[in-house]
Amino acid sequence: MEFAADGVTLAGDLSPEDVDKALETGGVKSWIYMNAESNAAFPKRAKSTLGEAFKTVIVDPSALTRGVADALEDAMATLPRPIVVQCSTATRAGMAYILHKAKENKWPRSGALQRAREMGLKFFAKPPLASFVSDSLRVREGIIFRQLFDTSGSSTYTYLLGDPVSKEAVLIDPVKEMVDRDLAVVEDLSLTLKYVINTHCHADHITGSGDLKKKLPGLKSVIAKSSGARADVHIEHGDVISFGAASNPINLEVRATPGHTDGCVSYVCDDMVFTGDALLIRGCGRTDFQGGSSEKLFDSVRSQLFELPDDTRVFPAHDYKGRMMSTIGEEKALNPRLGMHKTKEDFVEIMSNLNLPYPKRIDVSLPANLKCGIDD
Ligand code: FE2
Repeated sequence: MEFAADGVTLAGDLSPEDVDKALETGGVKSWIYMNAESNAAFPKRAKSTLGEAFKTVIVDPSALTRGVADALEDAMATLPRPIVVQCSTATRAGMAYILHKAKENKWPRSGALQRAREMGLKFFAKPPLASFVSDSLRVREGIIFRQLFDTSGSSTYTYLLGDPVSKEAVLIDPVKEMVDRDLAVVEDLSLTLKYVINTHCHADHITGSGDLKKKLPGLKSVIAKSSGARADVHIEHGDVISFGAASNPINLEVRATPGHTDGCVSYVCDDMVFTGDALLIRGCGRTDFQGGSSEKLFDSVRSQLFELPDDTRVFPAHDYKGRMMSTIGEEKALNPRLGMHKTKEDFVEIMSNLNLPYPKRIDVSLPANLKCGIDD
């Protein structure tokens, strides 16, 4: 029996010899078994050897509840390594594994499901198990979500995400002209803003971050380190921004998606991804300014966004036709520039023939946004 680097082995039915081997040569310190003790393959020797470190958590596919998920997560988090996680075919064991890894690494639901698929975990093939995992990874019922539109000219979407329990919230891509509107919504919902977050250093509008910070002392601005812009918190690929109740936080996973600018990032939260200008609905941001690169943007979208589950909801930084949301599956099928039917060469060709005018507000917006929207 071989252990992965994290000391976890997922197993199906084992012969008594394999159980002995795991205990003797594998040095196994703990064990989770998911069937009743009456099961013919019950690893008796493991139970008698490990005592308290042997846990039976019955996972009945017809009775999957939040309690089962909690019991699995708890056992996975507290038992020592190396550990064997065993069911009949290593399918339910894979569920326990991904629930644990998601919690440990603060992966949002879509990010965790993507990784589970990449690991080849088998529960995806069984719809009731797949939906149990997906539901268990949900932040919680009723995450507060508002999509706000810039009526002052840039067609920017600003997103408010909040925790209904602790009332802590974050704002993504606010616009300077709309700050009072944003603050009114925050106040109406009795929220406390913790972070004001940008997907990139925008060229088409001035960020509301600076004005918001002036009005809400303690509010922290967030942007990618690679953007070169000033902020209280500089994030990088793989970082997680957490807010809400400490015991059950809402996590935003940062994914570097350069190409529109060199400092563009997308944020994955629950089953949503906030793509900034990297991926727009049936389009994408231009690549001819601010260190843009069509090749990079193609690679970013394909490797960081299109690998997410197809039902992940896409919320871009803009839409000029009134569309508010898409999904990863939809954009893979229908995005005329970046869809799966296009090659990188096609994309580079399309982007080099757009003949776009010089961005209207770039000379004002860029210098302001590099300073977080504040003049000093
Ligand atoms: Fe942009």
